[in-house]
Amino acid sequence: MLLDNQTEQESAAKAEGHTDLFAKCHTDGGYFGKMRVMGDDEYTRPVLPPNPNRHMQFKGKEHIMWSVNNYLGLANHPDVLKVAHDTIDEFGVSSPMGSRMMSGNTDYHLSFERELAEHAEKEASFLFNYGYMGVIGTIQSLVGKDDTVVMDKLDHACIVDGAFQAQALNGAQLRIFKHNNMDNLEQVLKRVNRDRTGGVMIVTEGVYGMTGDLAPLADIAVLARKYDARIFIDDAHGWGTMGPEGKGTAAHFGVQDEIDIYFGTFAKSFASIGGFSASDKAVTDWIAYNARTQVFAKSLPMVYVQTLRKTFELVKAGEDRRTKMWARSNELKNGLKELGFYVGPGESMICSVFVPLGED
Ligand SMILES: Cc1ncc(COP(=O)(O)O)c(C=O)c1O
Repeated sequence: MLLDNQTEQESAAKAEGHTDLFAKCHTDGGYFGKMRVMGDDEYTRPVLPPNPNRHMQFKGKEHIMWSVNNYLGLANHPDVLKVAHDTIDEFGVSSPMGSRMMSGNTDYHLSFERELAEHAEKEASFLFNYGYMGVIGTIQSLVGKDDTVVMDKLDHACIVDGAFQAQALNGAQLRIFKHNNMDNLEQVLKRVNRDRTGGVMIVTEGVYGMTGDLAPLADIAVLARKYDARIFIDDAHGWGTMGPEGKGTAAHFGVQDEIDIYFGTFAKSFASIGGFSASDKAVTDWIAYNARTQVFAKSLPMVYVQTLRKTFELVKAGEDRRTKMWARSNELKNGLKELGFYVGPGESMICSVFVPLGED
């Protein structure tokens, strides 16, 4: 729907018979367009207090905060804050300057990458500034002209965008299989192999962030080996929460060694920012040299590298925190079910509540 507050330039463009680039900005189109036009600040872009507490003030009222990613309660842990202060005293807030490729590589980044790789049971790992950028960069760097990305239908936007980048920049092929449907995955892989000339990357999440179910990684591994494909798991939600020492969803299923590239973000159980890909050394080096989202971006700042390393210690030793997380999650799921809500069947700590779509 076109709204009536157009600029002169847009009106002129219309008179010329074409559309101005900004004309769409005066419509209720785009993501959450109706909300944007209404000036909604309740469901979209609400202004909230920055501290990730259990309770918050919103529009003058006390509320329970449901929407922070702080699975293990590690946000603002005093040991992490202490490291943050010490690191800022030593290095300030700017360092290191530049990208890893040029002037932003340090022993601290490299040591952290070794620690992550060891935990992920891989030879090496590579840090990214955001999980989102890490997934995009990993897919774009590896999936080339003759290659194919095979994605689950419910994969996160960063996987979809990574696949689009591989397609747009490299000419890669994209295929989608029905969510967690192994028969359909097998059909897709068979079809891809019929006239295949390059490699195949199967990409799934470990724990699905929206539905809370787990990818059947053992079955995916069997198919990947049968059809000669590589597996890349975005375990944003499983890293730190699932498996022994929070090693993730593949470790939970006992198939970590079947995963060719394991990916975790620090934005969920670590309650911070950043992410990493872990794999064989040659593959990790390739990613480090070819992932555009990090090659052309400034390196992860020291204050994050050092605080993440401290948080990592707490995550690894956090069995009590994980036990508490599961207890809380089960309590919430059961309570909501008793109240008559439809709670998804997910086997993870994520409590997905499905609501019927309105008429509008
Ligand atoms: C499955 C999945 N992958 C990647 C991301 C992006 O991670 P980050 O917030 O670290 O950029 C998210 C965040 O919502 C996610 O749920």
